[in-house]
Amino acid sequence: MTNVQRSDWDQWWRTAVIYQVYPRSFSDSNNDGLGDVRGVINRLDYLQKLGVDAIWMSPHYPSPQADAGYDVADYFDVNPEYGTLEEFDELIAQAHERDIKIIIDIVPNHSSDQMKLFQDALEAGPNSPERDMYMFRFSEGKCPNNWGSLFGGPAWTAVEPLTNNEADRNWWYLHLFAPEQPDFNWENPKVHEFFRSYLRFWLDRGVDGFRVDVAHGLVKEEGLPDDKVGPDRWAVDPDEYTQTEGPFWDQPGVHDIYREWRRVLDEYGRDRVLVAEAWLTPEREALYVREDEMSQQFNFNYLEANWNAERVRAAINDPIKANGVVGAPVTWVMSNHDVVRATTRYGYEPQMDYGRGIGVDDPQPDRELGLARAKGMAVFTMGLPGSMYIYQGEELGLPEVTDLPDESRQDPTWLRTGHQVRGRDGCRVPIPWEADAPHFGFGTGDTWLPQPDYFGEFAADVQDDDPASTLNLYRRVLKLRRELELAKGDVEWVDLGDRSVLAIRNRGVLLVLNMTSRPVTIKDVTSVVASSCDVVIGDGEAVVPANCGAWLR
Ligand code: GLC
Repeated sequence: MTNVQRSDWDQWWRTAVIYQVYPRSFSDSNNDGLGDVRGVINRLDYLQKLGVDAIWMSPHYPSPQADAGYDVADYFDVNPEYGTLEEFDELIAQAHERDIKIIIDIVPNHSSDQMKLFQDALEAGPNSPERDMYMFRFSEGKCPNNWGSLFGGPAWTAVEPLTNNEADRNWWYLHLFAPEQPDFNWENPKVHEFFRSYLRFWLDRGVDGFRVDVAHGLVKEEGLPDDKVGPDRWAVDPDEYTQTEGPFWDQPGVHDIYREWRRVLDEYGRDRVLVAEAWLTPEREALYVREDEMSQQFNFNYLEANWNAERVRAAINDPIKANGVVGAPVTWVMSNHDVVRATTRYGYEPQMDYGRGIGVDDPQPDRELGLARAKGMAVFTMGLPGSMYIYQGEELGLPEVTDLPDESRQDPTWLRTGHQVRGRDGCRVPIPWEADAPHFGFGTGDTWLPQPDYFGEFAADVQDDDPASTLNLYRRVLKLRRELELAKGDVEWVDLGDRSVLAIRNRGVLLVLNMTSRPVTIKDVTSVVASSCDVVIGDGEAVVPANCGAWLR
């Protein structure tokens, strides 16, 4: 099976290792308990040594932080808590000096309610051009339709209580997420114009691309019909609340937006990238990476497959097939800031549902098992062709914080669902850099989410000089990935007689992931190129332990 390329592999992003920085939690240079831009600059050498090609920065803009920065109040500046525009310029320059590209997060579905455009819209009153920038609707006595916010509660907020203007009686505005995140009206050409100028502003400063937040949500179905989930999304079963069909997802009109953006990016050269965050089926996702649209989409099927061999197999084959049709390479994603960290997911039975987050009263994972599997999966993944994402801390084997005190939780879902949904704070806890320093070297101020004592075991400094650490495993295997050019290779499945042992030949290397709970013997191999655990080799065979990932030859 060929991971088809559009023209050639020379465009950097087709094979890139992209590291996600979640700025609040990465590194705090001014000791206020929040990460910052200078913190990222200070850690560039670490990232270079890890072997990444690019950084994707989650939102760095001024924001009231109702949704950890995904509520942008000014698209043309840097959050003063994180630094200044000048520092951001310095970050771009210093990253480029080290051959590291910078991708930033564009949040086009909604802004912050504190953004001037929205405040002007409230002020200007019904039917004004200012209101037309957002999704205001008139409806007597009840919400205009039954849509529920993804963070809990209805997706509509009444306007009159905000403005105290009688003319606003029975007017509502739409927010697919929190009420502090009003949705833009993408039917309005002025919204298009605004985002084109936003793209140019950051491209002019030298960014290499954009990760597009909620890329499948910008356009809503004509007439805003009711959806089948209803207003209380979290009261229904997981398949429903995570469903990706409905009148606000994946409407055909979204593709025109990305074609328009592609033309803007192309003014700056074909190597500037657009990456889609679109939680859809592989076939639907592939439509976002057609030649005249985006460059990559996150392969979330891979992350959702957990420790289930058939699902992992499908999460490799289906996107390769679907993307092959449009000539785009596939990305491999194990974790991000919205899901339970991989090490923790793999420490549960595959059927565990942690879509609502994990708290101290929930069943706790087997940490050792989870880590072994995450390392196995990482080694296997690093051998796959295409591009790969690493979420900060993944290279340290960092677990989800499953025992976060509920009173410290900040994810809007926690409050908005009346404490039914714990949400995503557990994967956002500040990174441990030094085992023996206050707050594990993140910064000396109290961190915005508390770090558990066991984070010290995972600190980057203790892993740095330990050849057997997860960090050094990532460094070694990423280096081999590059040297052997596996990212430019193919997926050729090898049948080892057990569907739970995944085996792929790529450029002469046999990538193996033993997803069973016993060792497997693999014939006709003479050497171990890389592995997440001790593989015994001899007499032309290798014994790969349970939960282990290995590259054999
Ligand atoms: C995306 C982000 C998530 C955010 C949401 C609303 O899914 O990854 O963190 O809460 O969009 O912007």
